[in-house]
Order: sequence, then structure tokens, then C-alpha cells
Amino acid sequence: MKAKVLLAAQLAYTACWEGAMALYTRDDTLVPYLDPKLSARDRASDLMGRMTWEEKVGQLGGIRRVASRSNGKLTFNRTSFEHIRETQNGQIGPGFQFNWAEEVLPVLNEVRAEQINSSRLHVPYITISDSINGIWVSGGSLFPGTNAMASSWNLELYGKAIEAIRDENLALGIQWVLAPEVDLARDPRNGRNGEMYGEDGYLTGEFATRYIQVMQQKDENGWVRVATTIKHWVYGQGSGGVNRASMLGGLNHILNDLGASYVKPIRDAQPLSLMSSYSTVDGVPLSINKYLLQDILRGTLGFKGLIMSDANAIEYLYTESKVASSAADAAQKALKAGLQHELHPSGNGVFTTLIKAKEDPQIVSIVNSSVLALLEIKFLTGTFDRPLPTQENLAKTLRKEEHLEINRQIIRESVVMLKNDGLLPLKIDDVKQVAVIGPYADIINAGMYAACNATDPVYGSTLRRSLENKLGAENVLYSMGTNSILPSNNTDDKIIKEAVALAKKAGIAIVMLGSGLGTFDPATVNNQRTDQEGFAHADLNFPGQQMDLVEAILETGVPTVLIMSSGQTFLLPDSIFGRTNAVFHSWLSGEYTGDAITEILFGETNPSGKLTVTIPEANGAFPVSYDFLPSDDAGGFGTALLYDWHWPQVTRSPPLRFGFGLSYTSFSIGNSTINVDGARDNSTVKLSASVTNKGGMTGKEVVQLYFRPVVSLIEFPVMKLIGFQKVSLDPGQSEKVEFSIPYHDLGYFVNGEWHVDGGNYTFWIGSSSRKEDLTQLNVTIS
Ligand SMILES: *[C@@H]1O[C@H](CO)[C@@H](O)[C@H](O)[C@H]1NC(C)=O
Ligand SMILES: *[C@@H]1O[C@H](CO)[C@@H](O)[C@H](O)[C@H]1NC(C)=O
Ligand SMILES: *[C@@H]1O[C@H](CO)[C@@H](O)[C@H](O)[C@H]1NC(C)=O
Ligand SMILES: *[C@@H]1O[C@H](CO)[C@@H](O)[C@H](O)[C@H]1NC(C)=O
Ligand SMILES: *[C@@H]1O[C@H](CO)[C@@H](O)[C@H](O)[C@H]1NC(C)=O
Ligand SMILES: *[C@@H]1O[C@H](CO)[C@@H](O)[C@H](O)[C@H]1NC(C)=O
Ligand SMILES: *[C@@H]1O[C@H](CO)[C@@H](O)[C@H](O)[C@H]1NC(C)=O
Ligand SMILES: *[C@@H]1O[C@H](CO)[C@@H](O)[C@H](O)[C@H]1NC(C)=O
Ligand SMILES: *[C@@H]1O[C@H](CO)[C@@H](O)[C@H](O)[C@H]1NC(C)=O
Repeated sequence: MKAKVLLAAQLAYTACWEGAMALYTRDDTLVPYLDPKLSARDRASDLMGRMTWEEKVGQLGGIRRVASRSNGKLTFNRTSFEHIRETQNGQIGPGFQFNWAEEVLPVLNEVRAEQINSSRLHVPYITISDSINGIWVSGGSLFPGTNAMASSWNLELYGKAIEAIRDENLALGIQWVLAPEVDLARDPRNGRNGEMYGEDGYLTGEFATRYIQVMQQKDENGWVRVATTIKHWVYGQGSGGVNRASMLGGLNHILNDLGASYVKPIRDAQPLSLMSSYSTVDGVPLSINKYLLQDILRGTLGFKGLIMSDANAIEYLYTESKVASSAADAAQKALKAGLQHELHPSGNGVFTTLIKAKEDPQIVSIVNSSVLALLEIKFLTGTFDRPLPTQENLAKTLRKEEHLEINRQIIRESVVMLKNDGLLPLKIDDVKQVAVIGPYADIINAGMYAACNATDPVYGSTLRRSLENKLGAENVLYSMGTNSILPSNNTDDKIIKEAVALAKKAGIAIVMLGSGLGTFDPATVNNQRTDQEGFAHADLNFPGQQMDLVEAILETGVPTVLIMSSGQTFLLPDSIFGRTNAVFHSWLSGEYTGDAITEILFGETNPSGKLTVTIPEANGAFPVSYDFLPSDDAGGFGTALLYDWHWPQVTRSPPLRFGFGLSYTSFSIGNSTINVDGARDNSTVKLSASVTNKGGMTGKEVVQLYFRPVVSLIEFPVMKLIGFQKVSLDPGQSEKVEFSIPYHDLGYFVNGEWHVDGGNYTFWIGSSSRKEDLTQLNVTIS
């Protein structure tokens, strides 16, 4: 047996896979776990039964970042690798993001082949990686961030983008991704908002379901292409907007709001794994929160996959939260609460301490089931059976023309136009020069889980370069506007003066401001990091000197277009919004964001993105997600005040609200109808409306459907999204859109039980969550 397995591994390594496959299947004495004809579950239990205690504990962790980088070169530290490998060999990750795929592949393949060769039972690593904008090493297609892609409200196109990202991951051998992230972006301070789809559970659930279905779609051998990890159960409203901070959360809030985005993906797409969050919810860290992990996640929501920790989360139980006295104590508490796998970026994992618990039958039993869960993912994904990836296929797959084309398309639909007073689209003949200004105008602001070096010509263009391609370099006057996006460097206004002079000279200013990770491009905002994990915004204005910069430009009276670049939203006070001719949010960029904005500026692309997060109006005026509870905006006493926020006087319903976004054409949504088919439990609410393009340009509109029961058992949001469709229409063209909402989908959780109200309902159909953009429809379900 051994010789044949070795041979198989060797053949796999050299890509002669057909031969290896034949060896396995022709051998009558084949051990069951090596037999691809058996089910994943049977193979996993056969293998588990053959493993020693140490081998089992080894499967509970891994080596998430095999390669590192120093002095511009990939480094692989064999000593530390071997040290970790001794005790943690479940998964392996490519890390580090600025290494190139083609440099990492041989290292990964070498250690993967060694593992198959040298481990007693020839148990391969499963290869794991973050994956948001694409593969998490350099050299792949760089898609925009999650909230950018969600702003397209185009599920079909998103599915194609994920297919491309999936195939690039597979070409690198990645068979397990740490995505989708379904946390809701409900706190504008949270520096990770760009990794999330937006503030709404329904929209997030739809996108996440698509992500999982596409990633986990089986291939022609019946193997799951790429396993997914839905995360972070449960998170999104850490106190202060801080990533790892505690949060409150009664069960109704968790199931109906923060966790609503898990319901559909778990039910309809079955992610093979889930990552528990860093959050301490109501005093109990998720890593030991048996109630939320077992009773609610597995019991109420029916999650069946593997539960893993977030990176270092088990360690934090004793180093930070002090709810465990030692590594061993933390490991046992986490395991007993339901964590089955440990994510640990480097060094010894905490689960390795379980080695000493061999005599504890409760621990042994949970380790058994945890190992089974991991092995099942390995067998389902074909990890034992697939050949190792080849350089040839990698080169053929990464940055394939089809992938780049889908990338261009989704970026065009991701940019959201928030204002246009008629300045846009620009007419090419009228524009002699433009000034392009701002610290984000000449970088690709892609975010933390992206690998992009904007100065590398392999990737697409920055906004500055796109404009130069369009107008000629001599016609694009560029200034960074400020070299300081950090408040501590807020003094020198020399560059602001230079930018102002360029704006005056050109007669039109395109200003790109924002926040980000800023890792690349030493000449610009290198290391001036304001966002992402571990960075919350206490001030929702553009960080650093950027406010001074934009105000100075606007002071000139030169026509100005403002483009936001970030995963965050920023305040847009009247002094800025009111004086700017056009405003966009472009979110965390993909490599063609600069091109898409250029096309939009000149009217070659008609913007069609819509906000998936509401933009607050003041530093203290949040939460502002559109789906607040009626009592959240009840108003003051006696003096006819309509709402509680004063000085400045703002409401829970800012104008730049969820679902809002402009086009160069105008749409009207009318002729709406509503009917109920069937009785009560078996009923379906049927709605229709016609959308007409009343303007002069082809464009896309997102028809949105919201609802609420008139009277509910517990307080229900003022409205909730329950459907959306994006349609493309030529000038004068009309299209009928229809929605069918099953009675069941109108419900919500009350103390863990799904409840649906009968009686009267209000629906709204229109082009955003703003009442003025909606038509109300009443219906009775009896
Ligand atoms: C754990 O699995 C082994 C097979 O590897 C089995 O022999 C043992 O009975 C199991 N122990 C418990 C407590 O489930
Ligand atoms: C490699 O790892 C070992 C063990 O962690 C460490 O002592 C050593 O300094 C590392 N070597 C380099 C070149 O970083
Ligand atoms: C695997 O084992 C065979 C036989 O011992 C050896 O010739 C080969 O070099 C090994 N391959 C790797 C990648 O370790
Ligand atoms: C980014 O790309 C440029 C141009 O290829 C190169 O000179 C630079 O070293 C790269 N930076 C990093 C950090 O890889
Ligand atoms: C502020 O700017 C100076 C000079 O440009 C630079 O040396 C320093 O590192 C900057 N400080 C911060 C916090 O970025
Ligand atoms: C409503 O329907 C009529 C007739 O089909 C059509 O002419 C009109 O454009 C529709 N209205 C809207 C707003 O789509
Ligand atoms: C719904 O349909 C089921 C079976 O189709 C039936 O048993 C049940 O009585 C129906 N409920 C109502 C309220 O009509
Ligand atoms: C439901 O709506 C109908 C029609 O508008 C109305 O007559 C009825 O009073 C409403 N019922 C309740 C309980 O509000
Ligand atoms: C729908 O019902 C509300 C009361 O819930 C009422 O104010 C409104 O006029 C009704 N609209 C239509 C179109 O019937």
C-alpha cells in the first residue's frame, strides 16, 4: 500500500494524474479512505479510526502562512515550518500577500508533496486562504472589495466574478477560503466595513448564498471546488466600532439583525465551515459561547459544517479576556463549547495542548468529531485525490481575459453616484485639462485582504493614469493634495496650495479622498494606515488634512467632482456636498476602478451602483441603517420635534440612504400591483411594477422591494428589504418586474422561534429605501 501511495503522490506532484488515479482504483486491497468511490463521510471515519491521538490533534491546526517576504524576496523558513508541522498539520496557507503566485506555488507544492510522502497515513494538508478581492497573493485578477461588488446589486454578475476568483484560487491549489464575510456594516466607525456587503441582512444573505454556491459548486469529479467559511459568527456591532470589542446582543437582535445574514446561506447553500468571531457577546466570548455556537447556530439555524476559531481567538481567552487560566484551559473550554479547528497565524497553536488530554474521554470524543469534520472537508474537496496544481495551469488561469472582462463589468456597476448637478457627463471636446487631486487619486486602494502594487504595470490603472490615457498625460495635472492622511501630520499646507493652483489652472477638479490600508506605493500614503482590522474611525470625516484640502479646492469655485475611495463612509456636510458638483463613492478599488470612473466621468458608462450602507450626517448620528425600529426615531416631547438628534438636527433617515444611487438617465417605476395567492400558511404575495427609462441614455435601475407587517409580535423595523432586481433599459424602454414572496419569508424570530404574522402588511416598491422613491402597497393575508 505504502509504495503505491507514495507513487501516487509522486505522480500527482509531476502532474501525471491519470496514472495515479488508475493505481488507486484498480487495487483490490485499497484501504477505504483512499478509495474515491466511497463517500467523504465513510472515508473520513475510516481514516480517523486509523489515526493516533497525536495525529488527530495535529489535524486541529495548521500553518496558515507558509511563506513570508523580506527585501523584495519570498522567504520560506524551513526551521519554523518543521517545528509547526510536528504538531499542527491540518491546513496550510500560502501567505504572504505580496509574494507572487508563481513563486509561492512551488513552495506550497513541495511541502504538500512532502506531507503526503512523509506522514504515516499520507494525510495531505488542505490549502486555506483569505479571499476577498481575489487570490490573496500577488498576480491574480484584482476585483473590487466586497461592499463595492455588493453595490452593483447584480447577483448574476457577482456570481461570475466569484467564479473567476474561485478558479484562480483553484489554480493555486487553494481548496478552502475564509469567506464570505456576512457581518453587517452597521457601525460606520468599524475599519472593516469594506470587507462586508453592507448594512442589510437580506442583501448580504443573497450575495453570500451566491458566493457559497459558486465556490462550492461541484466539478466533473464530484468534488466541491472550493470549501467556504461563513464568518464571523456573530459580529458587526462591537462597542465603539472596534473590531475585537465586546457587544450586547439579545437573541432577537442576533437572529433578526446581526445574524439574519446567516439564515439563507446556511439553509440554501450549506457552507462547509464557519468562523466564530472575536466578539464577547453579553459577556461571553464566542470561543466559549456554547449557547450561541451549539444551541443557536447548530440548533436554531441548523448549521452542520465545521466551526473554526478566528486567528488567535482561543489564545485571547487567557491572554486578554481572562476567562481561562492557561493555554490548556482555554483549549479545553473552546473545544467543549464547539470550536473544532484553530486558526493560528504563526507559532504554536493553543489546541496543541490537547495532546495532554488523551485520557479525558469527553475531550477524546470531541476531538474525534472535530477531526472527522475536517477530514470530511478534505475528502469532499478531493484533497486526497486531486493532482497538485501546475505552473502551466496557474499561468493560463490567473488574469485570464474573461476574468479581466468580468472584473471591468462589475466595477462599472459598483461605483455609486450620489450627486450630479448636471456637470457630468463631461464632453470630451469641452475638456482641455483636468486637475486630478488627492491621496487616493494615484493608487489602487484595494484593502487589506488584497494584493496589489499599483505602481506595477501588470495591474490596471490608477485614476490619474486612466485620465492620462484618456486625455494625454500633458492634460492631466496631478497633485497628491496632501501627503498626510494622518491627523498628526496636519500642519504643512504647501501641497494644498499647489493643488489649488492646479485646480484653477485646469478649470475642473477631480478630487479623490478616502482612507485605507496604504501598504504599497512608498511615495504616497505608505503605511499611513487608517482602516481595516484593528482600525476604527473615531471621527467620520475624511482623515488627516483631506478636509482642509477639499474645502480649499471648493473655495476656488472651480467645478469639482468628489470621489470617495474606501471601505468606509464619510461625513458629507453641506459645506462639501452642497458645493461639489458631483459626488461618487467607489469603495475599495479593484484594478479597473480608475478606468470605470474615467468612463463614467465622460459618459461612456452610465453609473448604476446603489448604496448598501447609509451615510450618516454627523459624528454622533449613528446607527443609521435604514431598518431601524419605529421607537428608535420617536422624537422629542411636546414641542412638535419629529426626532431626537439635535445640534445638528438630523434624523435616522439621512438622504444618502441604503439603496440610493443616481444614473445619467431617469427611471420611473409605476403601474404597481399586489395580490395574495393562496391562504395564510400557503400564501404567496405577488407584486409587479413596470420600470421605464424616461431619459436619453441606456442605463440600469435596481427595483427594490421593502415590507413590514402593520402589527408585529415584537418590534419590527420600519421597513425591511425583501427583494431586488436589476434591469437594463434603453431610452423609452419599459420592463415589467415581478416578485413572489412566500408567506414564510415574511417572518422573524421571536425568542428563537420563527414567527409569521397574518393580517395586514405594507410593501413598498421603488428605487431606494427613501420614502420619496417608493410606492406603498397594502395587502391583507388571511
Ligand atoms: C475516538 O475514535 C477512536 C477511533 O479513532 C475510537 O476508537 C474511540 O472509541 C473514540 N473515542 C471516543 C471517546 O469517542
Ligand atoms: C526561522 O525560524 C526560527 C524558529 O522560529 C527562528 O529562530 C529563526 O530566526 C528564523 N530564521 C529566519 C531567517 O528568520
Ligand atoms: C517522496 O518520496 C519519494 C520516495 O521516498 C522520494 O523519492 C521523493 O523525492 C519524495 N518527494 C518529495 C516531494 O518529498
Ligand atoms: C511595486 O512594483 C514596482 C514596479 O514593478 C516595483 O518597483 C516595486 O518594487 C514593487 N513594490 C513591492 C513592494 O513589491
Ligand atoms: C509625518 O510626516 C513626516 C514628514 O513627512 C514623516 O516623517 C512622519 O513619519 C509622518 N508621521 C506620521 C505619523 O505619518
Ligand atoms: C404603465 O403602463 C403603461 C401602459 O403599459 C405604460 O405606458 C407606462 O409607461 C407605464 N408606467 C411606468 C411608470 O412604467
Ligand atoms: C397548506 O397546505 C397544506 C398542504 O398542501 C395543507 O395541509 C394546509 O392545510 C394548508 N394550509 C392552509 C392554511 O391552507
Ligand atoms: C387591515 O386592512 C383593512 C383594509 O385596509 C382594514 O379594513 C382593517 O381594519 C385592517 N385590519 C387591522 C387589524 O388593522
Ligand atoms: C395603506 O395603509 C396605510 C395605513 O396603514 C394608509 O395610510 C394608506 O393610505 C394605505 N395606502 C393605500 C394605497 O391603500
